[in-house]
Amino acid sequence: MKNIKVIIFDAYGTLFDVNSAAEKCKQKIGEKWKNFSNYWRITQLEYTWLRSLMKRHKNFWQITEDSLDKSMDKYSIDVSMRDELLNLYKVLSTFPEVKEVLKKLKEKNYKLAILSNGTPSLLNELVKSNSLTNIFNDIFSIEEVGIYKPASKVYDIPIKKYQVQKKEVIFLSANTWDVSGGGNYGYNSIWVNRCNNTFDKLDYKPKHQVKNLNEILDLI
Ligand code: LAC
Repeated sequence: MKNIKVIIFDAYGTLFDVNSAAEKCKQKIGEKWKNFSNYWRITQLEYTWLRSLMKRHKNFWQITEDSLDKSMDKYSIDVSMRDELLNLYKVLSTFPEVKEVLKKLKEKNYKLAILSNGTPSLLNELVKSNSLTNIFNDIFSIEEVGIYKPASKVYDIPIKKYQVQKKEVIFLSANTWDVSGGGNYGYNSIWVNRCNNTFDKLDYKPKHQVKNLNEILDLI
């Protein structure tokens, strides 16, 4: 990994903790909060892939609502929790090390960007509520191309904008399939393996694997 000019981050699960919405309601939801939260996330992702294949696009917020409804139904969670969970999803917390690492990378003069399934307004609100407004050069949303990750069109968005070579880009994601998507496209993909997970068999091995973003500082 030489001559890196741009560092691109996935948003949900990589910078922002998708479980933090349900976790903030764990007293009300009870012990099942974690299983419910994981189910909500995987249903949300399945809907992005299915809608892309079916060519029936809905934006990420609508998909988040639809997947929440299915998950609340499955886990028998009272409908009165719906608005609270959705409002919390708009202001998900970052993982603990994220802010410090982003600041340090910014000082090193890399171009920093987000590339995410989220809508521009969702991503802007997440960045704002976590006081990250002056960090990113760009916040790229798949809404620009109307299809979800891991379609190549998505990973193409920053390349078109910055006119850099794919090998000059580091792409970081905690989502294994997104690491493969970016890697197969041609990025140097780094897997942020926060939960000691197992990698996919999708024709790509990450350039590096880190436990959290702190380790990136030693790699570049
Ligand atoms: C995103 C999903 C993949 O932010 O986490 O694009």
